[in-house]
Amino acid sequence: MTKTDECLAKLSKLLSAGSIVHGDELDRVTSYWDSAPARAVAMVSPRSTEEVSEVLRICFEHGQQIVTQGGMTNCVKSADPLPEEIILSTEKLKRIEVIDTVGGTVTVEAGVVLQTLQEACLEKDMVFPLDLGARGSCTIGGNVATNAGGINVLRYGMMRNLVLGMEVVLADGTILSSMNQMLKNNTAYDLKQLFIGSEGTLGIVTRVVLRLFPKPLSCQTALLAMDTFNDVIDTLKKAQRELGGTLSAYEVMWGNYVRGVTGETGHAAPMSRDFPFYVLIEAEGSDPTSDDERFQRLLESIYESSVIVDAVVPKSETERLSLWKIREDFECILEPEPFFLYDVSLPIVAMDEYVSRVETGLTEKWPACEAYVLGHIADGNIHFFIRPNAGTEVTHLHEDCDGVLYQDLKQYHGSISAEHGIGMEKKSWLSESRSEAEINVMRAMKKALDPTNLLNPGRVF
Ligand code: FAD
Ligand code: LAC
Ligand code: ZN
Repeated sequence: MTKTDECLAKLSKLLSAGSIVHGDELDRVTSYWDSAPARAVAMVSPRSTEEVSEVLRICFEHGQQIVTQGGMTNCVKSADPLPEEIILSTEKLKRIEVIDTVGGTVTVEAGVVLQTLQEACLEKDMVFPLDLGARGSCTIGGNVATNAGGINVLRYGMMRNLVLGMEVVLADGTILSSMNQMLKNNTAYDLKQLFIGSEGTLGIVTRVVLRLFPKPLSCQTALLAMDTFNDVIDTLKKAQRELGGTLSAYEVMWGNYVRGVTGETGHAAPMSRDFPFYVLIEAEGSDPTSDDERFQRLLESIYESSVIVDAVVPKSETERLSLWKIREDFECILEPEPFFLYDVSLPIVAMDEYVSRVETGLTEKWPACEAYVLGHIADGNIHFFIRPNAGTEVTHLHEDCDGVLYQDLKQYHGSISAEHGIGMEKKSWLSESRSEAEINVMRAMKKALDPTNLLNPGRVF
């Protein structure tokens, strides 16, 4: 019997039927970005922290490598399995344990889907404010492991700002439980921070305590068209100043993105598709009448100063959601392959120049290149969907495209990953954004917590 067979036999004994699958049964394991079925030794789906711990103890004894999977929506190939790995799925860690409306916390297992949690909190008049387009599939454990960002970061911060407590299982099966519920707790090192954004390389998150906020009672939304990026920035500053802290989203779409996702093959366009910039702005408050008035005043004042060249204000929830679809549902630009998704951050003032330089660099290299640009610009974060259209003969296309995006980023002190992480896809570029000393400390942390490199090997480093 090989070590792998021995390990599998022990896992089969531990887990109930249905919690371990092999071979063709893995066909259902795909990712948002790639429908090819997974190939791996097996997939295990433990039902509790204790079962995760037992699985890891057995794998540790047999030197078996593991990749953790939540909703498989990550953008950097960090949860795609390798054939020699066992997949640990969090699909059966699905309990929302306690919603504490007084303390403003929720205790939840890692496999709960983000939207399920959002809806459960709303029923109790509370809001869990992390929000992103993958809300219907991504999991809380995945959000923690990637330190997810999304559309409400300018108001509530990234996932890191929303986690109060955590239970995590280490590579040898040790359960590290720090289920703190308080905003303040300075008793030595804040260990949970190590695991937030660690992309499954340091431990497996099984439960967390998250922060909640009172459910907003009003929502104001508008899609604004503008001619220049300076107008986009000025309007952001004005909205931050004049909306009395209620601004919750400020999503910018460059004209090429809106033209890509609307029209014959995409969503219905709510206004002309020819403007250079579109901003989806949203505010949420607690006093519907005065919130509406304040938002209206803001729109009128920017309209009068000729900054907005057109605007659509939705008249119903259906109309509001159809505006958000333009921002969040980009499936129609994902075909044909190959296309590459980028997630950079840099100072807001440098964005316009950077985007122009990238666009020039791309068309000089590949004249038929398509580049669709959008971003959570208040967080300094831009995404590019790039299809080089370079023909089938070209090799190293992805690397060459990375080169165009990243060569200029350094001079702006930007980051090659704002919110998606490193995974397998970006690890060769990590040193563009992190110093040797920083990477050495990261490696030392990995060695201390996972000395035999069993958890998500080959991701990040
Ligand atoms: P997975 O993809 O399954 O895993 C991601 C990483 O976390 C892997 O390394 C995995 O091994 C690890 N992991 C998963 N669960 C655990 C766990 N319990 N313990 C330890 N490690 C674990 N991201 C943003 O930040 N902002 C956005 O606005 C955004 N929008 C998106 C829109 C769309 C349409 C899509 C498809 C993706 C988007 N993403 C965005 C990326 C993605 O949704 C996030 O990275 C999300 O947090 C991943 O969650 P997941 O459950 O799908 O994790
Ligand atoms: C978004 C993903 C790509 O913002 O991060 O839609
Ligand atoms: Zn994003």
